[in-house]
Amino acid sequence: MSGSNSMWGGRFAEGPAAVMREINASIPFDKRMWRQDIAGSKAHVAMLAQQGIVSAHDAATIDAGLDRVAADYAAHGVAEDLALEDIHMQTEARLAEAIGPVAGRLHTARSRNDQVATDFRLWVRDAIDQTLVALDALRVALLTRAEEHAASVMPGFTHLQSAQPVTLGHHLMAYVEMASRDVSRFRDARARMNLCPLGSAALAGTGFPLDRAATAAALGFDGPTRNSLDAVSDRDFAIDYLTAAVQCALHLSRLAEEFVLWASQPFGFVALSDQWSTGSSIMPQKRNPDAAELVRGHAGRIMGCMTSLMVTMKGLPLAYSKDMQDDKPPVFECHDLLGLSIAAMTGMVESATFRTDRMRALAESGFATATDFADWLVREAGLPFREAHHVTGRAVKRAEELGVRLDELPFAEFQAIDARVNEALYDVLSVDASVASRTSFGGTAPANVRAAIAAARETMR
Ligand code: ARG
Repeated sequence: MSGSNSMWGGRFAEGPAAVMREINASIPFDKRMWRQDIAGSKAHVAMLAQQGIVSAHDAATIDAGLDRVAADYAAHGVAEDLALEDIHMQTEARLAEAIGPVAGRLHTARSRNDQVATDFRLWVRDAIDQTLVALDALRVALLTRAEEHAASVMPGFTHLQSAQPVTLGHHLMAYVEMASRDVSRFRDARARMNLCPLGSAALAGTGFPLDRAATAAALGFDGPTRNSLDAVSDRDFAIDYLTAAVQCALHLSRLAEEFVLWASQPFGFVALSDQWSTGSSIMPQKRNPDAAELVRGHAGRIMGCMTSLMVTMKGLPLAYSKDMQDDKPPVFECHDLLGLSIAAMTGMVESATFRTDRMRALAESGFATATDFADWLVREAGLPFREAHHVTGRAVKRAEELGVRLDELPFAEFQAIDARVNEALYDVLSVDASVASRTSFGGTAPANVRAAIAAARETMR
């Protein structure tokens, strides 16, 4: 029957077109770049006028029209019109509504390929700038708490076994080092990406007499990109950003994991503030470190974002391919997750109550100053380190048998193990003496920690 045919026939003819429109559209996500798109267009049209490619009058009309479109976006958001595909066509359509056919002159000597490459660079550059501000806040929080606890003793761990006493300040400063490397990686990425693709056109450049240096300067770039094919197909800048973000997220996940451990009852090193704890719907006593757990988890998703863009780019021939439209969602997602993660860790560091009494008790209970005794035997009694290690091992064993700390072991017991000792050995067995003695550059001595804090503050100026 022809009726049934016309039923599915009509639907079939319409169906693929609708799906085509849907798969093709990036407006649902690239509308996030509207500010960059407007800025790029304003720089472009100003240059076209300066070069006599469009008249000064038309350029002024277009520029004012772009301001109106921007004001409308700011007030009402960007409509998700799938038929208009992306933010570039959306803005041009809005512009035409605002100023009429003269809007059509804006796209002279420009393609969406160099346009999107420029917008996206501007967006990633802004994302990096925001991340740098956030990382500074994290570093300030860590430095503040490190200064407060420059001399607070805690157990230092290797293999998560009590190893040697360190100070909490020293431990927190380790994360300042990591955050500072992150800052340096983001700055590197920013410096490397800061060339402007605009004027590369679709892939081959253009015959119009552009001043690419002018648009680059207007948009805060150091200059124009050098090869049009590379410029429209390069997404290294986004991958540089993502790899820096991954390293940063890895660091945050380690700090988050320490907070999860430290907030647990067996450790009891930290009490998270109410603002950074959550309750359980069934167990009334619970104060869970959910934010720290989510920072730990977000690191995995951020790695997924990096992998996503790398896989998209792998094996793509020059120049632009539509695959590259998928570059934006993982970068946007990464930026949102990383921003939350840095802010959450900053808040937790700022507001945590560190249980230094508990840290000290644990540092004192694990024979953590055994190395200090061995070092003393080398220094004061002239033993070879290997032999000192054995003597100390026997002392630890004896203390364990008697159920006392190393510094509680009676002198007669030490003497029975090795006659070369004298009572001065007790001077090195306290955890305070231990940390104070570690004055090698980069060591945990409170004086070193204070110097490291001052040096870090100096580099942050
Ligand atoms: N929405 C596109 C993207 O994000 C813009 C570039 C489109 N270029 C093209 N030749 N179809 O990649």
